Amino acid sequence: MKTYQCIAPDVKLGENVKLSQFINLYGCEIGDETKIGAFVEIQKNAKVGKRCKISSHTFVCEGVTIEDEVFIGHGVTFINDSYPRATTDGQLQTEADWHVEPTWIKKGASVGSGSTILSRVTVGERAIVGAGSVVTRDVPAHTIVAGNPARLIRAIDEPDQTTRPKAREVRGISAA
Ligand SMILES: CC(C)(COP(=O)(O)OP(=O)(O)OC[C@H]1O[C@@H](n2cnc3c(N)ncnc32)[C@H](O)[C@@H]1OP(=O)(O)O)[C@@H](O)C(=O)NCCC(=O)NCCS
Repeated sequence: MKTYQCIAPDVKLGENVKLSQFINLYGCEIGDETKIGAFVEIQKNAKVGKRCKISSHTFVCEGVTIEDEVFIGHGVTFINDSYPRATTDGQLQTEADWHVEPTWIKKGASVGSGSTILSRVTVGERAIVGAGSVVTRDVPAHTIVAGNPARLIRAIDEPDQTTRPKAREVRGISAA
Protein backbone atom coordinates (compact mmCIF):
# COMPACT_ATOMS: atom_id res chain seq x y z
CA MET A 1 0.00 0.00 0.00
CA LYS A 2 1.25 3.45 -0.87
CA THR A 3 2.08 5.59 2.16
CA TYR A 4 0.84 9.14 2.43
CA GLN A 5 3.12 10.52 5.08
CA CYS A 6 4.90 13.83 4.78
CA ILE A 7 7.86 13.69 7.15
CA ALA A 8 10.54 16.32 6.59
CA PRO A 9 14.17 15.20 6.88
CA ASP A 10 14.67 17.48 9.90
CA VAL A 11 12.11 15.60 12.04
CA LYS A 12 13.72 13.81 15.01
CA LEU A 13 11.85 10.55 15.46
CA GLY A 14 12.50 8.38 18.53
CA GLU A 15 12.45 4.58 18.49
CA ASN A 16 9.29 2.64 17.68
CA VAL A 17 7.22 5.71 16.89
CA LYS A 18 3.96 4.66 15.24
CA LEU A 19 2.75 6.96 12.48
CA SER A 20 -0.62 6.78 10.72
CA GLN A 21 -1.36 7.87 7.17
CA PHE A 22 -1.88 11.49 6.03
CA ILE A 23 0.36 13.16 8.55
CA ASN A 24 2.50 16.24 8.08
CA LEU A 25 5.54 16.59 10.33
CA TYR A 26 8.35 19.12 9.97
CA GLY A 27 11.14 20.38 12.24
CA CYS A 28 9.61 18.67 15.29
CA GLU A 29 10.75 16.06 17.78
CA ILE A 30 8.76 12.92 18.63
CA GLY A 31 9.78 10.66 21.54
CA ASP A 32 10.09 6.87 21.68
CA GLU A 33 6.95 4.71 21.31
CA THR A 34 4.66 7.65 20.69
CA LYS A 35 1.64 7.03 18.46
CA ILE A 36 0.41 9.68 16.01
CA GLY A 37 -3.02 9.38 14.37
CA ALA A 38 -4.13 10.25 10.85
CA PHE A 39 -4.39 13.87 9.64
CA VAL A 40 -2.14 15.19 12.39
CA GLU A 41 0.16 18.14 11.69
CA ILE A 42 3.11 18.90 13.95
CA GLN A 43 5.10 22.04 13.18
CA LYS A 44 8.72 22.95 13.63
CA ASN A 45 10.02 23.52 17.15
CA ALA A 46 7.18 21.51 18.66
CA LYS A 47 8.18 18.67 20.95
CA VAL A 48 6.23 15.51 21.75
CA GLY A 49 7.58 13.25 24.50
CA LYS A 50 7.77 9.49 24.90
CA ARG A 51 4.78 7.12 24.99
CA CYS A 52 2.28 9.82 24.03
CA LYS A 53 -0.89 9.31 22.02
CA ILE A 54 -1.78 12.08 19.60
CA SER A 55 -5.20 11.28 18.13
CA SER A 56 -6.32 11.99 14.59
CA HIS A 57 -7.01 15.48 13.21
CA THR A 58 -4.98 17.28 15.86
CA PHE A 59 -2.83 20.34 15.14
CA VAL A 60 0.32 20.88 17.22
CA CYS A 61 1.92 24.21 16.39
CA GLU A 62 5.35 25.69 16.90
CA GLY A 63 6.00 26.51 20.55
CA VAL A 64 4.08 23.55 21.99
CA THR A 65 5.88 21.15 24.32
CA ILE A 66 4.10 17.91 25.14
CA GLU A 67 5.88 15.92 27.83
CA ASP A 68 5.98 12.11 28.19
CA GLU A 69 2.84 9.94 28.48
CA VAL A 70 0.40 12.62 27.41
CA PHE A 71 -2.91 11.80 25.72
CA ILE A 72 -4.18 14.29 23.14
CA GLY A 73 -7.69 13.58 21.82
CA HIS A 74 -9.07 13.99 18.32
CA GLY A 75 -9.17 17.38 16.68
CA VAL A 76 -7.31 19.28 19.38
CA THR A 77 -6.03 22.69 18.33
CA PHE A 78 -3.09 24.55 19.83
CA ILE A 79 -2.50 28.28 19.45
CA ASN A 80 0.77 30.22 19.35
CA ASP A 81 -0.26 33.77 18.41
CA SER A 82 -2.86 35.58 20.53
CA TYR A 83 -3.37 38.51 18.18
CA PRO A 84 -2.83 37.08 14.68
CA ARG A 85 -2.80 39.22 11.53
CA ALA A 86 -2.31 38.15 7.93
CA THR A 87 -0.50 41.33 6.94
CA THR A 88 1.59 44.23 8.24
CA ASP A 89 1.22 47.46 6.20
CA GLY A 90 -0.56 45.52 3.46
CA GLN A 91 2.22 42.94 3.06
CA LEU A 92 1.87 39.32 4.09
CA GLN A 93 3.44 38.82 7.48
CA THR A 94 6.66 36.85 7.81
CA GLU A 95 8.16 35.19 10.87
CA ALA A 96 9.85 38.52 11.66
CA ASP A 97 6.44 40.11 12.31
CA TRP A 98 5.31 38.02 15.26
CA HIS A 99 6.59 36.00 18.22
CA VAL A 100 5.76 32.40 19.03
CA GLU A 101 3.93 32.09 22.36
CA PRO A 102 4.69 28.80 24.14
CA THR A 103 2.31 26.19 25.56
CA TRP A 104 3.22 23.34 27.89
CA ILE A 105 1.41 20.04 28.47
CA LYS A 106 3.00 18.32 31.46
CA LYS A 107 3.69 14.64 31.98
CA GLY A 108 0.72 12.27 31.96
CA ALA A 109 -1.90 14.95 31.23
CA SER A 110 -4.88 14.28 28.92
CA VAL A 111 -6.60 16.73 26.60
CA GLY A 112 -10.14 15.81 25.50
CA SER A 113 -11.26 15.76 21.88
CA GLY A 114 -12.20 18.99 20.20
CA SER A 115 -10.44 21.18 22.73
CA THR A 116 -8.57 24.38 22.00
CA ILE A 117 -5.56 25.19 24.14
CA LEU A 118 -4.68 28.85 24.04
CA SER A 119 -1.03 29.92 24.13
CA ARG A 120 0.92 30.81 27.27
CA VAL A 121 -0.90 28.08 29.14
CA THR A 122 0.44 25.11 31.12
CA VAL A 123 -1.68 22.00 31.64
CA GLY A 124 -0.34 20.38 34.82
CA GLU A 125 0.78 16.79 35.40
CA ARG A 126 -1.99 14.20 34.98
CA ALA A 127 -4.63 16.89 34.65
CA ILE A 128 -7.60 16.13 32.35
CA VAL A 129 -9.14 18.68 30.02
CA GLY A 130 -12.77 17.79 29.19
CA ALA A 131 -13.87 17.32 25.58
CA GLY A 132 -14.64 20.53 23.72
CA SER A 133 -12.97 22.80 26.25
CA VAL A 134 -11.31 26.12 25.57
CA VAL A 135 -8.38 26.38 27.96
CA THR A 136 -7.50 30.00 28.67
CA ARG A 137 -5.63 29.68 31.98
CA ASP A 138 -3.14 27.26 33.55
CA VAL A 139 -4.65 23.95 34.63
CA PRO A 140 -3.41 22.74 38.05
CA ALA A 141 -1.86 19.27 38.21
CA HIS A 142 -4.21 16.37 39.11
CA THR A 143 -7.41 18.26 38.35
CA ILE A 144 -10.21 17.99 35.78
CA VAL A 145 -11.31 21.14 33.96
CA ALA A 146 -13.97 21.53 31.27
CA GLY A 147 -16.04 24.07 29.37
CA ASN A 148 -15.52 27.36 27.56
CA PRO A 149 -13.67 28.91 29.27
CA ALA A 150 -12.44 25.75 31.01
CA ARG A 151 -13.23 25.76 34.72
CA LEU A 152 -12.27 23.39 37.53
CA ILE A 153 -14.61 20.43 37.90
CA ARG A 154 -12.73 18.55 40.59
CA ALA A 155 -9.40 17.19 41.78
CA ILE A 156 -8.41 13.71 40.64
CA ASP A 157 -8.00 11.16 43.40
CA GLU A 158 -5.81 8.71 41.56
CA PRO A 159 -5.48 5.79 41.18
CA ASP A 160 -9.27 5.48 41.46
CA GLN A 161 -10.51 8.20 39.17
CA THR A 162 -11.78 5.88 36.49
CA THR A 163 -14.00 3.93 38.88
CA ARG A 164 -15.20 6.97 40.77
CA PRO A 165 -18.93 7.68 40.34
CA LYS A 166 -19.83 10.67 38.19
CA ALA A 167 -20.55 13.90 40.07
CA ARG A 168 -24.18 13.81 38.94
CA GLU A 169 -24.59 10.22 40.19
CA VAL A 170 -23.32 11.27 43.62
CA ARG A 171 -25.95 14.02 43.65
CA GLY A 172 -28.65 11.53 42.57
CA ILE A 173 -29.29 13.16 39.20
CA SER A 174 -29.92 10.65 36.40
CA ALA A 175 -28.22 11.17 33.05
CA ALA A 176 -30.55 12.97 30.60
C1 LIG B 1 -14.68 15.99 31.97
C2 LIG B 1 -14.74 14.47 31.98
C3 LIG B 1 -13.33 13.88 32.18
C4 LIG B 1 -15.66 13.96 33.08
O1 LIG B 1 -15.21 14.32 34.37
P1 LIG B 1 -16.11 13.96 35.65
O2 LIG B 1 -15.44 14.50 36.85
O3 LIG B 1 -16.41 12.49 35.60
O4 LIG B 1 -17.39 14.86 35.36
P2 LIG B 1 -18.95 14.47 35.39
O5 LIG B 1 -19.29 13.65 34.20
O6 LIG B 1 -19.26 13.95 36.75
O7 LIG B 1 -19.59 15.91 35.20
C5 LIG B 1 -19.40 16.98 36.12
C6 LIG B 1 -19.98 18.24 35.50
O8 LIG B 1 -19.15 18.63 34.40
C7 LIG B 1 -19.92 18.68 33.18
N1 LIG B 1 -19.06 18.18 32.11
C8 LIG B 1 -18.55 16.95 31.95
N2 LIG B 1 -17.78 16.90 30.86
C9 LIG B 1 -17.82 18.13 30.31
C10 LIG B 1 -17.25 18.71 29.16
N3 LIG B 1 -16.45 18.00 28.37
N4 LIG B 1 -17.48 20.00 28.89
C11 LIG B 1 -18.29 20.74 29.71
N5 LIG B 1 -18.85 20.25 30.83
C12 LIG B 1 -18.64 18.96 31.10
C13 LIG B 1 -21.11 17.79 33.44
O9 LIG B 1 -22.19 18.13 32.62
C14 LIG B 1 -21.37 18.04 34.89
O10 LIG B 1 -22.02 19.28 35.00
P3 LIG B 1 -23.20 19.50 36.10
O11 LIG B 1 -22.47 19.41 37.43
O12 LIG B 1 -23.71 20.87 35.80
O13 LIG B 1 -24.15 18.37 35.88
C15 LIG B 1 -15.34 13.91 30.66
O14 LIG B 1 -16.71 14.34 30.54
C16 LIG B 1 -14.60 14.35 29.41
O15 LIG B 1 -14.91 15.36 28.76
N6 LIG B 1 -13.59 13.52 29.06
C17 LIG B 1 -12.81 13.69 27.86
C18 LIG B 1 -13.16 12.55 26.91
C19 LIG B 1 -12.40 12.63 25.61
O16 LIG B 1 -12.31 13.67 24.97
N7 LIG B 1 -11.81 11.53 25.22
C20 LIG B 1 -10.97 11.51 23.99
C21 LIG B 1 -10.83 10.14 23.40
S1 LIG B 1 -12.37 9.41 22.91
